[in-house]
Amino acid sequence: MTKDGGLYALETHPEMNSAQKPATKNTRITTPYGHYTSGTPMIVNRETPYKAKLLERKCLNKKGSSKTTFFITLGLEGRPFAYKPGDCIGVLPENDPGLVAEIIELTGLTDLRESLALKVNLMRVTTRFLENVLGLELEKEERLHYLKHLDVLDCVKKHKVKQPELFIESLGSLLPRFYSIASSDPDRIDLLIASFSYPHGEEVRKGVASDFLCHRAKDTALIYPHPTKHFLLPESTDTPIIMVGPGTGVAPYRAFLQERQAGKNWLFFGERNQETDFYFEDFFKNHPSLRLSAAFSRDQEEKCYVQHKMLEHKEELWEWIKQGAHIYICGDAKQMARDVTRALEEIIQDDDPKAFLKTLRREKRLLLDVY
Ligand SMILES: Cc1cc2nc3c(=O)[nH]c(=O)nc-3n(C[C@H](O)[C@H](O)[C@H](O)COP(=O)(O)OP(=O)(O)OC[C@H]3O[C@@H](n4cnc5c(N)ncnc54)[C@H](O)[C@@H]3O)c2cc1C
Ligand SMILES: NC(=O)c1ccc[n+]([C@@H]2O[C@H](COP(=O)([O-])OP(=O)(O)OC[C@H]3O[C@@H](n4cnc5c(N)ncnc54)[C@H](OP(=O)(O)O)[C@@H]3O)[C@@H](O)[C@H]2O)c1
Repeated sequence: MTKDGGLYALETHPEMNSAQKPATKNTRITTPYGHYTSGTPMIVNRETPYKAKLLERKCLNKKGSSKTTFFITLGLEGRPFAYKPGDCIGVLPENDPGLVAEIIELTGLTDLRESLALKVNLMRVTTRFLENVLGLELEKEERLHYLKHLDVLDCVKKHKVKQPELFIESLGSLLPRFYSIASSDPDRIDLLIASFSYPHGEEVRKGVASDFLCHRAKDTALIYPHPTKHFLLPESTDTPIIMVGPGTGVAPYRAFLQERQAGKNWLFFGERNQETDFYFEDFFKNHPSLRLSAAFSRDQEEKCYVQHKMLEHKEELWEWIKQGAHIYICGDAKQMARDVTRALEEIIQDDDPKAFLKTLRREKRLLLDVY
């Protein structure tokens, strides 16, 4: 694993022991996560990403759903890197070419098309951009308004570009986005991605990477591995696992459950409506050793969330925890993770449930992957 956030080359997979490491050409190598045939070592990281083929893309929400969440499969032809259940990938997205075209039309900066598409964050402006490129001298309050509420398109609609040569270097970089891997097959990567959009004044803006992956990417996407250090399956199937994952938070559990066909496994999944939003329903229902509790928030008047289902099974969950279960929480960081943690405090029958949870975290038995 390298220093910059754990990116690794195929021949230095963190889970390989020394006997597995020598990667001579065409040697069959077995890792805890599958087999591969070694070839020329390949470094795949943010600087040298892998161009993955887009093999499949389909909306998992059925007709009539209030949301659009996509199942996406990327090919790992030649196994450029290994991954394990719990890992994410980094995706280098492209900006919307329609948005780039509008900016070019307004500014006349035709030679910047590629940089505008691939290099810069068009959804936010910077003080440097306002001052250097647009030549604005703004009072603090107005400057903060620009920084918080206006994007590059808004600004070039309102103001002339004074220093085009500083346009690209004055903007923030277009950053990679991370996605949980929803598979454990070494030849492919499945993803579950919520297509994301939000109001922007009178208009609608789309999430850069989710829109790219769910709608715009035609044949390929640039990706690199982002291994987890902590969101790992226990070594033994004797250790029970409790997985909590509403929405796209369920993605890594598909990978866990493809890997783990035995043992005690309990999944708490939540979405809006059972009829239209039950991702991977058949896979979960046909798993040989999965207990499934699903909460559908909008099938009735009162909200029903994963934590409500957990509290319905309070006693049994406590038994599992006493048996040494590992507890995983994945998905929304803002509200869900806090609410689920509060539910756990009610489930834990100890004088000091908060301290008990702290111990679970320290012992790496309570594991969060939230965003
Ligand atoms: C470890 C990890 C794993 C993840 N796994 C998954 C996964 O498996 N599936 C998945 O779908 N996502 C996952 N995510 C989230 C994912 O990385 C992206 O953050 C998400 O797809 C949104 O990115 P985007 O580029 O589409 O949106 P962006 O272009 O980044 O837009 C989101 C931004 O829009 C702005 N915004 C949001 N709402 C509003 C609003 N109402 N008004 C104004 N501005 C607003 C905010 O600045 C916000 O940061 C994961 C994140 C992490 C860190
Ligand atoms: N702006 C958009 O277009 C848009 C759309 C969807 C998601 N998102 C964002 O995208 C991210 C991923 O979304 P997602 O599809 O994975 O999931 P999500 O839509 O945020 O939620 C999945 C399920 O979790 C429920 N939920 C809401 N609050 C909860 C809580 N406090 N505790 C437990 N469950 C809760 C939701 O119910 P209810 O929704 O019925 O309350 C829904 O049933 C989130 O950060 C979300 O904010 C944005």
